[in-house]
Amino acid sequence: MRLIDIDRIRSDTPAASRLVYLHNAGAALMPTPVVAAMKQHIDLESEIGGYAAADRESDRLDAVYRSVANLLNAAPDEIALMENATVAWQMAFYALPFRAGDRILTAEAEYAANYVAFLQVAKRTGAVIDVVPSDASGELDIHALERMIDERVKLIAITWVPTNGGLVNPAATIGRIARAHGIPYLLDACQAVGQMQVDVEAIGCDMLSATGRKFLRGPRGTGFLYVRRPLLRQLEPPMIDHFAAPWVARNYYQLRDDARRFETWENNYAARLGLGVAVDYALAIGLDPIEQRCRMLADRLRSGLASVRGVTIRDLGRMPGAIVSFTMDGYEADAIVDSAAAAGITIGASHPSSTRIDADVRKLPVIVRASPHYYNTEAEIDRLVEHLTGLAQQ
Ligand SMILES: Cc1ncc(COP(=O)(O)O)c(C=O)c1O
Repeated sequence: MRLIDIDRIRSDTPAASRLVYLHNAGAALMPTPVVAAMKQHIDLESEIGGYAAADRESDRLDAVYRSVANLLNAAPDEIALMENATVAWQMAFYALPFRAGDRILTAEAEYAANYVAFLQVAKRTGAVIDVVPSDASGELDIHALERMIDERVKLIAITWVPTNGGLVNPAATIGRIARAHGIPYLLDACQAVGQMQVDVEAIGCDMLSATGRKFLRGPRGTGFLYVRRPLLRQLEPPMIDHFAAPWVARNYYQLRDDARRFETWENNYAARLGLGVAVDYALAIGLDPIEQRCRMLADRLRSGLASVRGVTIRDLGRMPGAIVSFTMDGYEADAIVDSAAAAGITIGASHPSSTRIDADVRKLPVIVRASPHYYNTEAEIDRLVEHLTGLAQQ
């Protein structure tokens, strides 16, 4: 196992010396090479114009597909670069045909954006949404999933790492079940990419969406979609333009063969280049060491929080990841976030409406979300624990 050169990484992350930044599930701090790649491209655009700049950088722009493909163990033609994870997910989901009575299986901690799309498609088509219950640990119950499968199930769509805590759903086991039954499997990997190994072959998902700005440390306004090749050719995107589908004759368009059929012509090339550098940066460190360090820091935070009076840790699952969620008696989550910010510690909050089913089942209020990354130190984790200990004593 490679070791992480924490000093070098922190010197690539200048704000880490000024802030205790534990909001990587919101938007991580970008490393300097990511920022430099974007600035350089914006400079080039301002010097020679946006079209010429994209032409000049076309090799590097193409390489972004290869980088994302390497990250996922996929092929570059299975990757579409998008402006965020939501649009990536929507492009896949709305391309799937549903009819009255078809069933969509999802999990309790499904992300709001996905669930409202299920509701819209259910309203339009008469498809039915069935939520697979969680097991005692809080993970999607695999046995319940197997029992719920019948010939009407047309999609399994789950969030791997939900927005509201450390839960890591059993994505690969779900993939084996989906495959055994020939059911398309759409995985929201938004909070997993950059935090852990994401291998679409090992997981067995057919479609996967993710964002750039979270654990991947890329720029805002970036995301990507993976679609497995055999399915790709069957999926007509819900919306197209002349990039996705060149206008080949007056009354005909021809969809591209590759995943770029889900893209449109105009793009933020500086952000794309930043995304590519962020992916390469993560790959150079190694996703296994990243995951190991993220878990070590999150576990340290959970054990520190366990000793703070009035704190309840809200994370679910057998092996929670790098999102630590909690509440504290006598304090609203937003007040905790504000008081931490005043002490130079950046954390976030998650509202019940982001994961309504899970929040309802567990009667969750707004919860605090602290999400360390590999560039954080043990001392920073301890600072948050000390801050909360001080708050509890007030
Ligand atoms: C689980 C999950 N899926 C999807 C998204 C949406 O990502 P984006 O904001 O890039 O569209 C988020 C964002 O918080 C998320 O937590």
